[in-house]
Amino acid sequence: MELVRKVSGMQGISDRLMKEGKKIGFVPTMGYLHEGHLSLVRKAKELCDSVVVSIFVNPTQFVPGEDYERYPRDEERDRVLLDAAGVDFLFIPEVMEVYPSGYQTYAEVTEVSKGLCGNFRPGHFRGVATVVAKLFNMVKPHLAVFGEKDFQQLLVIKRMVEDLNFDIEIIPGVTVREEDGIAMSSRNAYLSPEDRKKAAVLYRSLMKGKESFESGERHASILCRTVKDSLESVSGISFQYVEIRDAGTLEKIEVVNRPTVIALASIVGGVRLIDNIIIGREKPF
Ligand code: PAF
Repeated sequence: MELVRKVSGMQGISDRLMKEGKKIGFVPTMGYLHEGHLSLVRKAKELCDSVVVSIFVNPTQFVPGEDYERYPRDEERDRVLLDAAGVDFLFIPEVMEVYPSGYQTYAEVTEVSKGLCGNFRPGHFRGVATVVAKLFNMVKPHLAVFGEKDFQQLLVIKRMVEDLNFDIEIIPGVTVREEDGIAMSSRNAYLSPEDRKKAAVLYRSLMKGKESFESGERHASILCRTVKDSLESVSGISFQYVEIRDAGTLEKIEVVNRPTVIALASIVGGVRLIDNIIIGREKPF
């Protein structure tokens, strides 16, 4: 695995790979990798000749007061994991190279970024869309893989790619879970052992919504209430939202009669966790 730190270096490598006729797959990350990231890497490897992973803790997607400074970082461990996973290039740009002084251009996906996490993290998706657009221009991939755990992010990126005519295929990767169902996330590292146990209620609650749907319930408000009741049954857990939306557009729906996402954001011991489940679809997208 080759480590690349300069934007010009990354662009030069991608130009060479393209001349050689190689299909480039890309997995953007903020590091502190877990099995969820590695499953995205495996997907990119299946579909492409060369795989690039980036590690960049992107300051513009953190809202003031959030955890940018203390976001977990372990470059050495990440390098070992990615090397073992067969990644070809690891791209780790410096903040000053991505956002040099005088920087003033942003990408904003206006509608899909609204609601859900957008309500609680104003400016977050603008930061995500901006850095992903920039990383796409640095890595020049044919295909990029994004996890479904960050479902709104996935749809923001898909919308941006379509609207800005990026010639890049966006591939979703299914959420990887621990044995008790908790979705893998770098931020799980913030949880105390006790809160880590409590956090399993997130997936249990989503599953209750799904089971209710599978037993014939179609009213979004009732499915939503089922999930909320389950979350509220555990002390020390609060939620920012539980919402039921169209899984393609994130539009609000009242009756579930198409692929639909039940999405939630919860606070467990002061740590914000998100999760979701898709109902009403035959197989993963
Ligand atoms: O999902 C993430 O880790 C980040 O939001 C991403 C896509 C790498 C952009 O910084």
